[in-house]
Amino acid sequence: MKEIILKTNRLILRKPKMTDWKDLVEGIGEFDVAKMLSKVPHPYKKKDADIFIKKKIKKWKQKDKTDYMFYIELKSENKVIGAIGIHEIDKFSGKGKTGSWLNKKYWRNGYMTEAKIAVNDFAFNKLKLRKLNSDVYVENKASNATQLKMGYKLEGVRRKNNKSFLTGKIHDINEYGLLREEWLKRRKKLAI
Ligand SMILES: CC(C)(COP(=O)(O)OP(=O)(O)OC[C@H]1O[C@@H](n2cnc3c(N)ncnc32)[C@H](O)[C@@H]1OP(=O)(O)O)[C@@H](O)C(=O)NCCC(=O)NCCS
Repeated sequence: MKEIILKTNRLILRKPKMTDWKDLVEGIGEFDVAKMLSKVPHPYKKKDADIFIKKKIKKWKQKDKTDYMFYIELKSENKVIGAIGIHEIDKFSGKGKTGSWLNKKYWRNGYMTEAKIAVNDFAFNKLKLRKLNSDVYVENKASNATQLKMGYKLEGVRRKNNKSFLTGKIHDINEYGLLREEWLKRRKKLAI
């Protein structure tokens, strides 16, 4: 099967490679990034990156894929600056769950907006999903802002639902959902 690569103005979204470990250690090794994710070891070592990348490469090889983890490569630097994934894909129900992170040095440049547009187009147009869901810590201003910008609707709050692996803190979780028809409408308002 042809390799799946998503291209935007500034980014290339592609499957992980073993040689990405350094960029992964730099990006996700940052406490402020890792603390917003579910279960990332800290400090983050080469061995952690190797195990993770290997696992994700294996998932890309599966025939009936339930998981697409794209690494976000910044064209101008030939560097992986983040990741964005569609996970827990349930073809019968037509839904999946998204997650993402970006190297702190590159925050607030619209990179995640650009990556999310490409991934949402892929999820709804190519995979023909009906709905994307996303869970975000209530305190995570950046991620809540990103979901709302994409047109996600807040569907509920799960109280005291998650415990952060890094801080031990208990978090309330905002549960967001984006329906295909909502995305098609929203997409027209987003440049790119
Ligand atoms: C969430 C994250 C991926 C956002 O990436 P980013 O590339 O900086 O986001 P963008 O630049 O595309 O910004 C998207 C929107 O969010 C807003 N935003 C970004 N960071 C923000 C912040 N700290 N506070 C408030 N709004 C913020 C932007 O202003 C933008 O909206 P606008 O265009 O209307 O101004 C990044 O902050 C990150 O990696 N955080 C740590 C890991 C994480 O939280 N992952 C998600 C777990 S659910």
